[in-house]
Amino acid sequence: MNREACGPDSYRDWVLGLDFRVRYCLLLPMAIGTCCLLFSCLLFSCADPKFQQYLAEGEQLYIKNCSNCHQRNGKGLGLVYPPLAPSDFLDKKVAAVICLMKNGQTGEMTVNGSSYNQPMPGIPSLTELEIAEIATYIYNSWGHEKGIIEVKQVSQSLKSCPSD
Ligand code: HEC
Repeated sequence: MNREACGPDSYRDWVLGLDFRVRYCLLLPMAIGTCCLLFSCLLFSCADPKFQQYLAEGEQLYIKNCSNCHQRNGKGLGLVYPPLAPSDFLDKKVAAVICLMKNGQTGEMTVNGSSYNQPMPGIPSLTELEIAEIATYIYNSWGHEKGIIEVKQVSQSLKSCPSD
């Protein structure tokens, strides 16, 4: 014991010397709690560089391609440009949103109970990666927390766009 005042042996002796209530009611839950916290942190954001990259690139692409009309804060403009934040259309129709970025959107549509009817020009030059990044940005900003939109999901949705 004296040899190693702080080695593994003395630590074990110390733990075993504790009252069992302290050991099982305090130390054990604390250890489990810490592990859960670290694990969920790893899972959800701290260590997901791809998600962070999509968000950052998506924000730049949104500012460049979309914010003229839908505004930087996603609130839209009167009854001309519908809002994305909030938008019941956005919440429900991920595939349609992916399609309209590329192909545009015409005809009357209802967003949050209000009717809009102005053509939105599509941006055919957007790559599938860029669409995934913009989608990740708009689906994880202004209170949305949908998580990453993968390129795979974008390619699949683009295959079945209406009247392509
Ligand atoms: C030139 C203006 C303009 C630009 C640029 C534009 N939009 Fe739109 N957007 C519109 C209009 C107008 C509508 C409504 C279309 C209709 O009435 O059929 C619309 C509709 C939408 C909708 C569905 C309705 C809603 O509010 O949820 C989404 C989602 C959307 N746009 C996202 C985008 C994204 C993302 C970009 C950039 C890639 C973009 N828009 C660029 C004008 C624009």
